Amino acid sequence: MHENDVSADIGRILAPKETLEETTRRLAAQISQDFAGKEVLLIGILKGAFIFLADLARHLTIPHTVDFMSLSSYGATATTSGEVRIIMDLRTFIRGKHAIIVEDIIDTGHTLLYLQQLLGARQPATLRTCVLLSKPDRRKVTVPIDYLGLEIPDDWVVGYGLDYAEKYRTLPYIAVLKPSVYRRE
Ligand code: PRP
Repeated sequence: MHENDVSADIGRILAPKETLEETTRRLAAQISQDFAGKEVLLIGILKGAFIFLADLARHLTIPHTVDFMSLSSYGATATTSGEVRIIMDLRTFIRGKHAIIVEDIIDTGHTLLYLQQLLGARQPATLRTCVLLSKPDRRKVTVPIDYLGLEIPDDWVVGYGLDYAEKYRTLPYIAVLKPSVYRRE
């Protein structure tokens, strides 16, 4: 299959471009209001968050900087074991800063719980969490989320940063991947 043959793999659209734009603006407005007069550090979690973070940052009306982390879950059992490790840490020291973790999606919650504990120990002035998508049916651990975009059902979703086997991250919308795609592997 050619990578650009999107129509064969993509099912219904969960969030069209307009919804993503509106959601990202709403979250940026909330953050800008909550941190009025302050500067925030956006911490994007690679790779999934790169597009959401780029749009979110450009809608902020307050001073901000960006940094990134890359994490990996241990093996295929990661979602049940909850083990997470750092592949690339921040370049920035976050002590005393207003840090906001920016994620594309929360599923079991293990990744965000790990991040909140890890980054919280570095003594930022505040630590908030902003997530575009949540699958509440999949949650295994309770994680506080300060800024949430959309709740979605437990389907495999791609686009706007999210992938299937590294494909479809740059689709301008979020859509359900047809189950036949991952069943045939
Ligand atoms: C996704 C997402 C979160 C994590 C959420 O990353 O970006 O980091 O899974 O799952 P959890 O709530 O069950 O911990 P993924 O491992 O797909 O990597 P990617 O962002 O590089 O695509």
